[in-house]
Amino acid sequence: MLNILYLKFTFKYLRSHKKKQMTSSIEKLLNDQVKFEASASMQYLSMASWADVNGYNGVAEFFYAQSEEERLHMTKLVKFINERSGTVIVPALDKPKADFKSLNELFETFLKSEVFVTEKINHVIYECLQHKDYNVHNFMQWYVTEQLEEEAVARTLLDKLNIIGNDKSGHYLFDRDINTIATEANAPE
Ligand code: FEO
Repeated sequence: MLNILYLKFTFKYLRSHKKKQMTSSIEKLLNDQVKFEASASMQYLSMASWADVNGYNGVAEFFYAQSEEERLHMTKLVKFINERSGTVIVPALDKPKADFKSLNELFETFLKSEVFVTEKINHVIYECLQHKDYNVHNFMQWYVTEQLEEEAVARTLLDKLNIIGNDKSGHYLFDRDINTIATEANAPE
């Protein structure tokens, strides 16, 4: 019994005295990024729900999947911060936008969100270089690649919608083919 108590105490002591493996400014930026990815996940869930009730089943499935992806991006950051002996702050989130005038507005919101996340990731990368934290820099490269792909998909989908304009049969085909369009936008040249 005493041995167990001793082990528990030692484990607790070691956990509370682990040396942080990154500067506090980088740790803060990574935690901010947790919030941005979580917010994107909730925003896309809200967009999926809007599409669902407005009869765009393909668009709904697309955003349900995007929402899951952003959640994975968030969790990957949480695990990384913990691995580096940082302190994760699970954030409170603002209510996502829930009402959209059109499919165009829905996809404008998507592109805006992705551009915002890319800017934030670039900022983390910049700070990593300032602090010579090549470990975090290396970890963040995965996000850089992801963002390139997601922005390309968002731009392509919005371009298609701009071509379609107000044509209802065009919207029908867009909803039916959204995953094919997204996959093609993502394919290497
Ligand atoms: Fe993980 Fe597309 O932001």
